Amino acid sequence: MRIIITDSYEEMGMEAANIVAGQIYLKPNSVLGLATGSTPVSMYQRLAAVHKTVGLDFSEVTTFNLDEYIGMSPENPQSYHYFMQENFFKHININQDNVFIPDGMAEDMIEEGERYERLIEAKGGIDLQVLGIGQNAHIGFNEPDIKFAATTHKVALDDETIQANSRFFASVKDVPRYAISMGIKTIMMAEHVILLANGKNKAEAVYKAVCGDVTPEAPASILQLHRDVVVIVDKEAASRLPAAIRGIHIVKK
Ligand code: GLP
Repeated sequence: MRIIITDSYEEMGMEAANIVAGQIYLKPNSVLGLATGSTPVSMYQRLAAVHKTVGLDFSEVTTFNLDEYIGMSPENPQSYHYFMQENFFKHININQDNVFIPDGMAEDMIEEGERYERLIEAKGGIDLQVLGIGQNAHIGFNEPDIKFAATTHKVALDDETIQANSRFFASVKDVPRYAISMGIKTIMMAEHVILLANGKNKAEAVYKAVCGDVTPEAPASILQLHRDVVVIVDKEAASRLPAAIRGIHIVKK
């Protein structure tokens, strides 16, 4: 794991965008795994700016999003489909035929999970996966559990996640209780992974991901076993990491 600690949220996004842009320059037809939530927004803004100013070309890029709420149509402003269009896709020259997000309206979620996995495989697998992290150390919507769920599957959201995500809804009652998410194996199969976090409320989750036991009770901890992960966190999110790690860009292992 390589750990990059930044002074600010904007800088976190910039570091992440540099890695994503580098990936696309090296392999224009890269397959990216993408995340939603507040965390990656500064990265998306930066990538859109790089596209606009120096022409970073997304025309051959394929994207797979981590997850979607069940029961939300792409037109719903709270859906992750909508989020991705608004925050990223409409600002770059991506081919919409190359954009994939789990279908939260599918009738059969088992079938939808299998379809999504087949699509990822057909595109050659994910080159670079971008992750945020939940306060309970979830990645995608893989909530703390007694085992790691492998592939794209239906999940019941934890109360903590429902509470955390209620800030995007009129009230907590409106937050969907279920989602469809890539599994841990889907994520671990990516060639490269970057994990982003900002803010004090992520410090405990970042500590568990980087320094804690590898356990399905802290799903992000599995990343310690991945061969190529860069953790990019602002100093608040890094505040629980051991002093030896904090404050500088460092290669941990
Ligand atoms: C959401 C998403 C995750 C995201 C996480 C953190 O529920 N399913 O992919 O990383 O929770 O969200 P935020 O970045 O808004 O804190």
